[in-house]
Amino acid sequence: MSTIALIVNERAVQTAAEPRTSLADFVRDELDLTGTHLGCEHGVCGACTVLLDGVPARSCITYAVACEGAAVTTIEGLDEDQVTIELRAAFTREHALQCGYCTPGMLVSARDLVLRLPEADERLIRVGLSGNLCRCTGYVGIVRAVQSVIEHRRARDIAPEPNGGRNSLGPVGSGHSVRDGADQARPTLPMQSAQASPETAIGVDSIPDFTPATILQQHFSVKHPIEQVFAMFDDIPAVAACLPGASLTAPPNPRRVEGAIRVKIGPIAATFQGAARVERNAADMSGRIIGIGNDQRSRSSTQGEIRYRVVPVERGTGTRVDLSIGYTLTGMLAQIGRPGLVRELAARLIAEFASNLDRRLSGTVADAATAPGALNGRSLALGLLRARFKRWFGRFSSDKDRAA
Ligand code: FES
Ligand code: FES
Repeated sequence: MSTIALIVNERAVQTAAEPRTSLADFVRDELDLTGTHLGCEHGVCGACTVLLDGVPARSCITYAVACEGAAVTTIEGLDEDQVTIELRAAFTREHALQCGYCTPGMLVSARDLVLRLPEADERLIRVGLSGNLCRCTGYVGIVRAVQSVIEHRRARDIAPEPNGGRNSLGPVGSGHSVRDGADQARPTLPMQSAQASPETAIGVDSIPDFTPATILQQHFSVKHPIEQVFAMFDDIPAVAACLPGASLTAPPNPRRVEGAIRVKIGPIAATFQGAARVERNAADMSGRIIGIGNDQRSRSSTQGEIRYRVVPVERGTGTRVDLSIGYTLTGMLAQIGRPGLVRELAARLIAEFASNLDRRLSGTVADAATAPGALNGRSLALGLLRARFKRWFGRFSSDKDRAA
């Protein structure tokens, strides 16, 4: 499931949706906006037409998750729209509907036509509505109704709306309406309970606890005293510098960190941007980091939790770090990131993190400039890197065995 935030009929909506859910099913099933009808479900009949960023679009072949940030207007959202009011009256007057199944989509398309083409004649109206099929074949009445609205508006000297009232050019549903000036309308109030996103997670307390879908247990050892290692975990910039692909995006404080991490799984590269809550327990030398982040490009989001505990080994001259890593991944990366691949990715991340931590504790600083780049899941699939990872893991396991 992906959490999507969009505006439907001028109302902020933020909720979860399967990546395969169409916009039509989303508005009908999740929001009870059943005025959007489904006919062919193949993008042919136009019954499902809605406005997406002000542009008529087939909601049956538009994924809901692709509408992140977009403004969606269904027929219900046009109740008070002046052109639609005129069209409804004209449809009644001209007997432009029989069963009425095509009518919501027909009205949405007709409204766009009226706004954009104030000079349209019968031929242009027929061309403009050719993407909307009426199974009752009542086209004569429909065309007459649209034509009468256009003529009445022309007679009243009503000027056309530039670009038909569309917010901006660009791919339908690209979210231009939000980016081009309607940012104030950005959803902030979830319509129903949903996973928090970095955009809404402002305070530390708004980063929620969660139950991870996957938990990985890892450990590594370093030849440094436990106090030094535990103190290092409190140095957020140093920890971030040790983590491959990670960077801070704001000055950290002891309880909160904002940052990004670059990963590449299969063909998809993602930069998860987010925030994390930091907890530490000096009594048992443990800590917890709970974070949330998302990647706009791949429309993927993740919640993650790292629990760590440091324990002395080798009579206090060495330290073992026990890690429990839990995460839930949603969106496109979740489709591609098979558990085995993600597990290897996490293992490599930890191995490189341990190596960098060791170097830093030894005085060989691994700063952001020398830290490795994005984690690459594809490269992990290659035997060469797999062998390299195993060498790393073997070395740390040996450390542990010697220490035990
Ligand atoms: S139901 Fe969408 S075009 Fe027919
Ligand atoms: S009025 Fe029945 S499908 Fe158009």
